[in-house]
Amino acid sequence: MTGKNQTVVSEFLLLGLPIESEQQNLLYALFLTMYVTTVLGNLLIILLICLDSHLHTSMYLFLGNLSFSDLCFSSVTMPKLLQNMQSEFPSIPYAGCLTQMYFFLLFADLESFLLVAMAYDRYVAICFPLHYTTIMSPKLCLSLVVLPWVLTTFHAMLHTLLMARLSFCVDNVIPHFFCDMSALLKLSCSDTRVNELVIFVIGGLIIIIPFLLIIMSYAQIISSILKVPSARAICKVFSTCGSHLSVVSLFYGTIIGLYLCPSASNSTVKETVMSMMYTVVTPMLNPFIYSLRNRDMKGALGRVFCKKKIHFSLPW
Ligand SMILES: *[C@@H]1O[C@H](CO)[C@@H](O)[C@H](O)[C@H]1NC(C)=O
Repeated sequence: MTGKNQTVVSEFLLLGLPIESEQQNLLYALFLTMYVTTVLGNLLIILLICLDSHLHTSMYLFLGNLSFSDLCFSSVTMPKLLQNMQSEFPSIPYAGCLTQMYFFLLFADLESFLLVAMAYDRYVAICFPLHYTTIMSPKLCLSLVVLPWVLTTFHAMLHTLLMARLSFCVDNVIPHFFCDMSALLKLSCSDTRVNELVIFVIGGLIIIIPFLLIIMSYAQIISSILKVPSARAICKVFSTCGSHLSVVSLFYGTIIGLYLCPSASNSTVKETVMSMMYTVVTPMLNPFIYSLRNRDMKGALGRVFCKKKIHFSLPW
């Protein structure tokens, strides 16, 4: 690819998590449980939203898409991590590494755009309740899902092609549990200035713009509530937006902390734990935070699984 006569690295070693071998089995069981929970929780939500016609509203269509994206996002890193924890020689081929990086970027971006769409949806629902159905038309909903797909496909492709330009020489040990872009850049023996610039500028925009849009939506929601304060309205806001805000802060807090404020000291442990937060913990918590505690979802569970009973109440 580069045409240079160098020893070309054909595979990378993923060092995985900085853990002692006694804890290996315990952590393996923990991560396996977390991954299975993520898959089942998100599948349940997609299933409920597809099967129950009461949930065919814009909010739930976005939620269904978020669940899909969560499911894929954790499937990009977790199966490989679990496999590597059991193997003596935890390697990943060069092409596999770039593929993992591509899908990691794709689903991470998609997730952040969907969080924006959901924040906008809540903003319209609370600030313009009478025009909600006309504003959030099926056409707008579709574009709010399709546009992110197009944008993220190009964004992930850009970083992956820029990474494919680089050559890797002798050092092929990635001190991480997946093919992280910044870890790969540190290993490369070619000039990485262009990559760093693109990550800083475009990556920064792709993280900062959605984050600002979400903050703006919530600022509007809060200011519209404070104009006519009533206990009922405040309750409504906290029930619909509190959970959303907590996911948003967990997701963006760790990403911004990791990529935009890199620490001077190379503390791999801290970085790995923070990456764990948004690659494993957020996709697992999303379905529970957004929906399984919500009345419409419980109704849908009852309707889908116990069709005969109309008023079915779940014990939680
Ligand atoms: C994702 O969004 C699109 C457009 O709004 C919708 O047609 C589709 O059913 C959604 N997917 C899921 C899994 O909910």
